[in-house]
This record gives sequence, structure tokens and C-alpha cells, in this order.
Amino acid sequence: MDKRSFETIAVQAGQDATGSLTRPHAPPIEQTAAYVFESLGDVDEVLGGRQPGFMYTRYAGANQAALEEAVAGLEGAEAGLAVASGTAALLLAIVSAAPAGSEVLATRDLYGGTLSLLRRQLDRLGYKHRLVDMTDPAGVEREIRADTRILLAETISNPTMRVFDLDRLAGVSRRHGLVFICDNTFASPYHCRPLEHGVDAVVHSATKYLNGHGDVTAGVLLGRADLVAEARKAAIDFGPTLDPFAAWLARRGLRTLPLRMARQSASALRVAGFLAAHGRIALVNYPGLPGDPQHALATRVLVRGFSGMISFEPRGPAGAAERVIAGLRLIRFVPSLGDVWTTVSHPAKTSHRSMTADERAALDIGDELIRLSVGLEDPADLEGDLERALERA
Ligand SMILES: Cc1ncc(COP(=O)(O)O)c(C=O)c1O
Repeated sequence: MDKRSFETIAVQAGQDATGSLTRPHAPPIEQTAAYVFESLGDVDEVLGGRQPGFMYTRYAGANQAALEEAVAGLEGAEAGLAVASGTAALLLAIVSAAPAGSEVLATRDLYGGTLSLLRRQLDRLGYKHRLVDMTDPAGVEREIRADTRILLAETISNPTMRVFDLDRLAGVSRRHGLVFICDNTFASPYHCRPLEHGVDAVVHSATKYLNGHGDVTAGVLLGRADLVAEARKAAIDFGPTLDPFAAWLARRGLRTLPLRMARQSASALRVAGFLAAHGRIALVNYPGLPGDPQHALATRVLVRGFSGMISFEPRGPAGAAERVIAGLRLIRFVPSLGDVWTTVSHPAKTSHRSMTADERAALDIGDELIRLSVGLEDPADLEGDLERALERA
């Protein structure tokens, strides 16, 4: 019989499960904003790193730590930091790697949101940036100035699927004492481990392949322990904390990453071949196609396949992309990617909307470009859906 008063029972009863001989097989979700300490001395022990433990969820928590450890293991990194989105991971990677006044030399083939981060926010925080063609490492080296401190690239670019010679770019970065940050969202560590190519820091939108089920927004930053420790300080100060449940879901999704990537890449290779051979298709971007201009480089940078991301342009008068998207039945129009469900997006209208039409045109992101994220369905069904939509368009 609980002898505590009504109000106290309401607040405190059932809080701590005690005396259980067993423990859960799945990791518990520590849905808490902070942790209990038994003494002031324990605070020093935990914050001094002498005892394991957590203090405050904005600083770190068990579910975030589990995700960090797992992704760091997959990327071959010393340490990781899990945050609320891929965008937050990029922000923290940049501000913790170099002070205001520094220049970020970024690939021109960049996710539109990252460009927007550079233009709208980092610019007013005092960071400068220039966009360069990273398919030409010698050209990149010529562009480096005294204030250049960071190189920023994507392993496979969104949405043009360009790949970059990470080893040569890392050589350029090292020669000039820069920090090379690589967004590995499209490849995932299954297809590329950028740190092994000499990259200093890897970022992910874990919203995509790492979680893989389209139900979490999260980001992860990986790299040397000293770089990640600096980024964690920035995370504590800026506060883009990953919620424990979201961290738990992402960690759970990660368990099937190898299976999903293997299947999604194999299906994408097949679907890309189907599109490339189709009379109603004007262009296919997929580095796994033997005829792709970057195929040879892609086979050096990527392993075990080329990911599940394709982009393509249907033939026909203006508006063909819109008609194809409208004609799809199994494949949904969802402005995200990396889901087990096959989705398409329209970069000009969604991810790259912040660019002017001229800027998009210079990057080959036309109004007819469709981005396809191949999921786990039967590829024959996907081809059937595309065939029907192309016929109707
Ligand atoms: C390549 C790439 N990097 C980063 C991001 C940003 O991720 P998030 O939406 O989790 O902030 C995206 C989002 O689409 C992306 O495609």
C-alpha cells in the first residue's frame, strides 16, 4: 500500500523499476531531459569522463550515444555526434572546424539546403563561401586562397549523382591545411567510407538511408575525436539536440542498413538500365551505368554498388516531368529519399528551390529533372509503374 499522499503518488509513483532479475533485450528509450545524480561528486566523475553517465540530454544521452557509436563504427570513425538533422550536423561541422572569417570552398553540386545554409546563415555569421567544380581537383587547388579553411563536398551529389575523387581532393586539402568535410548521405557508409579516402569529417542526413524508414529527422557527424569534441561543444551551445526516441528509431533502422543498401542499389542499377534504354527518356544520371561518364571514377570511390539514387529527364514538351510524376501510382512524390518506399522528387520545385533558374541550369538541374530514390519493392513493379507513367505523359 503506497503511503505517500495523492499528489506525491501522482508525481513519483512507478518511476524506477527496481529489483528486476532481467533486463530488456532491446535498448530502453531513455526519454528524459536530464539524469539523476546521487552526489555532487558524481557530477565531476561523469563530466570529467572518469565514470560513464550523462547529465543533460542537450549535452548527450544514452540513445544518442548508441547511434553515435554505431555510425562511427560503420564509418570507421573515432567518434560521432548525433543531432537533430543533417543540416544541423553540417552547421556544427563548419562552425567547429574554422572561425568566422574563414572561407568554405564548396562543390557547386550541392544539396540546395546546404547552399541555403551557407548563403542565408553562415554568411551572416561571418563565413564566406565559393562554389567550385570539384570534379576537377587541380582546379580546386588553384582556387584556394589564404582565408580558405574548409573544403565541402558530397560523396554522390544531390541530385545530379556526380562523384568526386575524394583521395585527390583530400590530398589538396592536406597540402593547404584545410578541413575536408564530406556529406555522405547518398552513399551511406555501405558504399563509401570517406574517412578512408583522407576526408576529415563526414556528415549524414540520418533522415535518409541511415534510418531508412522515412519516419525520423536526424543528423550525424563523424571524425577524429578532437574534431567531434569541438562539434559537441558547438552542439551544446547552439542546442540542436536529437530527441531520444528519434535516436532510438534511427539506431533501430540502422540494423538493416547493409541489407537495404544492397537491395536498393541492385534494384537501382536495374531501373537505371531500364530508363537508359527507354525511348521516352532523354537523360539518366546514375554512376553505376557503364556508359556514365563518371563510371570509372565511381568504381574507385564507391564499393558494393552505387546507391539507390537516380535522376532522369523524360523526353517531350515542357511539363513532361510533371506529367510523369502525376502518372505514378506505386511510387510516391515525396521530397525526401533513402526510404524503403520508392519515391520521386522534383529538385527544381523542392530541394533546389532556393536557387535561381539560371543557377539551376548551370548545374544541369532543369525543370524536367526527376530524382528517384529506389526502395525495397520488386523492381519489376517499379519499372511497370514508370512505364505506365511515361506512356501517359
Ligand atoms: C545530401 C543531403 N545532405 C543534407 C540534407 C539535409 O538533411 P536534413 O533534412 O536531415 O537536415 C539533405 C536533405 O535532403 C540531403 O539530401
